[in-house]
Amino acid sequence: MTDEDTDRLSRRSVVKATGVAGMAGMTGLAGCTGGGDGGDGGDGGATDGDGGDGDTDGGSGDGGSGSNTFEIVHWWTAGGEQEALQALLEGFQEEYPDAEVENNPAPGGAGSALDTVIKNRVLNENPPSTFQIWPGKALYPYTDADLLTDISDSVWGQNNMKDAYLDGVKSVARAGTENYVSVPINIHRLNNLFYNKSVVESAGVDPESINDPNQLADALDTIAQETNAVPMAHQTQSPWSTVQLWETIFIGEQGVGAFETFTNGDVESLEDEVKAALERLNQYSEHYPEDSGSISWDQGNSMVVNGEAAFIHQGDWAAGQYNAASDFEYDTDWGNTSFPGTSGVYSLVIDSFVYPTNNPSPDLTEKFLTYCGTKDAQVRFNTRKGSIPPRTDVSMDEFGPFLQTQSEDFSNSNEQPATIAHGTAVRPEVKSNIEGAFASFLESGDVDRTYDELVAAFDV
Ligand code: GAL
Repeated sequence: MTDEDTDRLSRRSVVKATGVAGMAGMTGLAGCTGGGDGGDGGDGGATDGDGGDGDTDGGSGDGGSGSNTFEIVHWWTAGGEQEALQALLEGFQEEYPDAEVENNPAPGGAGSALDTVIKNRVLNENPPSTFQIWPGKALYPYTDADLLTDISDSVWGQNNMKDAYLDGVKSVARAGTENYVSVPINIHRLNNLFYNKSVVESAGVDPESINDPNQLADALDTIAQETNAVPMAHQTQSPWSTVQLWETIFIGEQGVGAFETFTNGDVESLEDEVKAALERLNQYSEHYPEDSGSISWDQGNSMVVNGEAAFIHQGDWAAGQYNAASDFEYDTDWGNTSFPGTSGVYSLVIDSFVYPTNNPSPDLTEKFLTYCGTKDAQVRFNTRKGSIPPRTDVSMDEFGPFLQTQSEDFSNSNEQPATIAHGTAVRPEVKSNIEGAFASFLESGDVDRTYDELVAAFDV
């Protein structure tokens, strides 16, 4: 994984990208970015400054440590995710018993609702203490507009973080700038295929022997013929799960090199390949639940738990939900394999927390972010979340057999691409165009038109 794209968005394009051009003038976004009125800020201008303290204190009104209420905004209300966050907050409060936590979720898988909430609050200079966001390119609009505090020393200078974190993770935590602006808390793998063991066995399907996305299409047909179960518990209510399925099929068929050519925007050199993965999606779509358009990812995942569905493609947050379910055990009731065709690949989905400027609780925010960088926090959180820790010095003893296997797969993986659907690989406005293309594709199944829209998606 790399995040070397230091080609920064101009402040003007940030406002455009975040879809808030009209509001910016009214709410004083320009004011809180500090400095000129917006030509091209150029590289680094937004984050080089040392204005962090000034910005930080400015919003709290008391110029000091700020409120004793720590407000956190996130989208973890599903499956094991809620438990993971709860465990993290409990650990934080054990360390800082006086801290009052305002737990303020903006539910919606893959941040489908959080984005708007946060943008509006940041623009109104009323951010929460911290919020959940993917590191890497998802952070660019914020760093370009100087809306995140530099935590290189205050947070990353503690608990040996700079030595303990993986290099690739440190790179995305800086979001293409010189400074650390976020604290990654986990590493999820995206390219999984989860299954209900008794359903696949009753159909005579062996998931481990499915070697490529085409063979998976055959296996789905077999499930449909041999059982009453839904072959693939895919949700289409929101396009992100289809974006992630497409990108994973694409890697399974074409490899990571071609995928990175795509994420760099050279879509036209890949016309046949892009279209082939769209055709594959059309094959799979015959095997989604009838109500796929009205369910969330975790409702789809519950179908795997209940034996109503055979397979689901999801990040390993799905395993967090299995862990939280009763009587649904790894290797007995459910299994997992790397998505067909992607065995040496570990597609990374990383979550992080940030320190917005105009912070209502500077002292507690710094403490919380520092806590997230500790071994204790990463064990509490990741054991429940279905992810592995981004620190390299955390013992896996408490993680159970599934995550121990994931951790071994991570160590043995040859390639660790960042993903489109989970914000790290492409800038937010590109991601949003790609999601738009897949939202129409879900309606039409039109491969040629979707290809054209994917070409245009990078035109920002
Ligand atoms: C991802 C996020 C995961 C998980 C998933 C489903 O974007 O990184 O932690 O929450 O969405 O909502």
